[in-house]
Amino acid sequence: MKFPKLFKPFLVSAALAIGLAGCSGSNENAKSDEKTAAPEKAESQEVNIYTARHYEADEAIYEKFTEETGIKVNVVKGEAEELIERLKREGESTQADLFVTVDGGVLAHAKQNDIFQPVTSETIDKNVPENLRDADNNWIGLATRARVIAYSKERVSPEELSTYEDLTNEKWKGRLLVRSSTSLYNQSLLASFIELNGEAEAEKWAQGMVNNFARQPDGGDRDQAKAIAAGTGDVAIMNTYYVGLLANSEDPEEVKVAENLGVFFPNQETTGTHVNISGIGLTKHSKNKENATKLIEYVTSVEAQEFLSANNYEYPVNPEAKKADLLESWGEFKMQELNFDTLGEHNKKAIEIFNKTGWK
Ligand code: FE2
Repeated sequence: MKFPKLFKPFLVSAALAIGLAGCSGSNENAKSDEKTAAPEKAESQEVNIYTARHYEADEAIYEKFTEETGIKVNVVKGEAEELIERLKREGESTQADLFVTVDGGVLAHAKQNDIFQPVTSETIDKNVPENLRDADNNWIGLATRARVIAYSKERVSPEELSTYEDLTNEKWKGRLLVRSSTSLYNQSLLASFIELNGEAEAEKWAQGMVNNFARQPDGGDRDQAKAIAAGTGDVAIMNTYYVGLLANSEDPEEVKVAENLGVFFPNQETTGTHVNISGIGLTKHSKNKENATKLIEYVTSVEAQEFLSANNYEYPVNPEAKKADLLESWGEFKMQELNFDTLGEHNKKAIEIFNKTGWK
């Protein structure tokens, strides 16, 4: 692997100081948001990214891209919704060439807001299978995580687990942990159930979950794992990459939490396990289209995808790329088959159901 194992500090020429919104990773301090005007003739050797992903691994990949191509990468960080609003507000004058975010629902929402243009590249089409790209190539998948059932290895046997629906069974009463419904991850999970099973079933599921809560939703995905270790509950819904981050944490307490945590991929016999996708798209008013396309080609390459998986414990979108050993150890799984656009379409309804059923 050509990448440095330890990340060098990454140069962020324009960073927004905005909260991390449920995502982990390093935070960069805001500097100046000022930029020199884009040159009018030839494309400058730079590319500008607005990103709602805040991971050190992403930054290392951008750095490596600069090393290989000489194209400078400028990053503005923020929350997805704010960055989408900013792109709309800036219109033609925006400096952003690329928009990056977690969550298929958000990507669909960004597309609806007309901030993208299609990207054309045989390399990208080859790197990323069609089901992990927008139908019009408005956004391209970058990595996925499965939203799985994590369980206490001491108190739960995997034979007791089967589906998301089964978590509403009385046997899990007072034992179930999950984060708040304000999380995009939960909103897209419920949106997927609306699409697959209909509104009534989705509502029944949310209500059944609330009935079995070990406590009111509190903290992020990693806090649910910690609550399992503390004995507050026995099963939790969480994204796979957080399990990887805990297992490889510098904090020995977090490593311990991961040691007693089992990972179960639900709904293998039925609709498949829900997957959360991150994506990258070319902005409608990009001034550095060629460089931006090169960057998408690079981040979806085998090399960058393997690095992302090894360091952020996400599933590669490029089928040629090797998964991180930990992910490999969990084996293959069947993922939900649905168009990611539907997650955006059902987002409002999902929030309504959460409110109605008292999932805070
Ligand atoms: Fe996250």
